[in-house]
Amino acid sequence: MTQTDKKNVIIFASGSGSNAQRLLEYFEHHPHIRVAALFSNNPNAYALKRAETFHVPALLFNREEFYKSDRVLQQLAAFKPALIVLAGFLWLVPQQLLQAYPNKIINIHPALLPKYGGKGMHGQHVHAAVLAAGEQESGITIHLIDEEYDKGEFILQERCPVLPQDTPEQLGARVLELEHRCLPLVVEQLLTRQPQA
Ligand code: GRF
Repeated sequence: MTQTDKKNVIIFASGSGSNAQRLLEYFEHHPHIRVAALFSNNPNAYALKRAETFHVPALLFNREEFYKSDRVLQQLAAFKPALIVLAGFLWLVPQQLLQAYPNKIINIHPALLPKYGGKGMHGQHVHAAVLAAGEQESGITIHLIDEEYDKGEFILQERCPVLPQDTPEQLGARVLELEHRCLPLVVEQLLTRQPQA
């Protein structure tokens, strides 16, 4: 397989991008898969810098471009994405993008969906809600996306314990570690599995 035959993963990230970092690291020297670009809606997203460090193109867009033009679609098409990974991306993905890449856009969520998902359920809000509900376990969900927040077919759920004295930050750190461990492997599996006969 030559360099150009590699499958292209595109990351969408709005914030720190620690999951993006894991993907960039994991696929840096991968024989069949590469991270081809990182897209962000946030000019201050640290994720942009992480991409640049790996010499991966970092592209920024605003709300108007995302929802009212086909600029992002056109930019994406140039990379021929095999998979689009929403890794801490906070905007709802528009219909036209979903239609252009059916079953090729996945999201990672830091809780066991369908609980603790939906609009506003991100970052420490999720972990605070899990603790407030007295849950004994939490975890991650990696899922296909559709036109609603945090819906779509599950690909993987992994669990971790909630400990009695946990703060949202402590639980969040445990969940994030699980995300970092699982996300590259799921991406790799999705892109290397044999097509169904
Ligand atoms: C992760 O917890 C992810 O599940 C959620 O947003 C967070 C992003 O963290 N969707 P990071 O930017 O990858 O550090």
